[in-house]
Amino acid sequence: STPNTLQQALLDWFDKNQRDLPWRSSYTPYQIWISEIMLQQTQMDRVTVFFSRWMNTFPDIATLAMASEDQILKCWEGLGYYSRARNILKTAQILVERHEGRIPSSRKELLKLPGIGPYTAGAIASISFNRDVPVVDANIERIFARLFNIDLISGSPEAKRIHWQKAETLLPPKQARNFNQGLMELGALICRPKKPDCSLCPLAPYCLALKHDLIPERPIPKKS
Ligand code: ADE
Repeated sequence: STPNTLQQALLDWFDKNQRDLPWRSSYTPYQIWISEIMLQQTQMDRVTVFFSRWMNTFPDIATLAMASEDQILKCWEGLGYYSRARNILKTAQILVERHEGRIPSSRKELLKLPGIGPYTAGAIASISFNRDVPVVDANIERIFARLFNIDLISGSPEAKRIHWQKAETLLPPKQARNFNQGLMELGALICRPKKPDCSLCPLAPYCLALKHDLIPERPIPKKS
């Protein structure tokens, strides 16, 4: 039968259409952390290859915490933005020293760790621990700009504020893992930057930019 909420439409779509990714079988906090850091500046196809090699080399947080900076940089080689790898090592050492070798589940504690900002903290808390925590990345900002026909400049402080507020309001209780991943997956597979496939979009009935024929104008780019 037809889902009767935007949330259920997305959850149903994600259930049927999600990609099979190496970290989606167990949602181990360590694996979600590493995959989310890798995905910040690197495409999914490349990340899956580097992720598997990383997990073979450093299978758990304790092993990682004992590694040298040279070893972790060598394993990161090719991904770029090497401060990400250095912060991963620092965080692993802090986790062993102060958190019994485990990743905390609260957004507040996660935000104290090197290399973990609002996006990564939200992703780990929701995807790994299914905490009721919103998350917004560039893909989700694009979806919201279209869904709610937001006419603010992409990436502006005002747009960011509105998008985080939307993410919080929309979040269905107890379903953050699949809802947040559903948004990310929709942004990657359907609501793409160019040529979004609105005919296949589970949110098309709710999409204001589609209704007003404004998909090509949303989001409004930084400069024209
Ligand atoms: N991009 C970044 N994080 C992602 C995730 N968890 N699922 C799909 N795409 C992503």
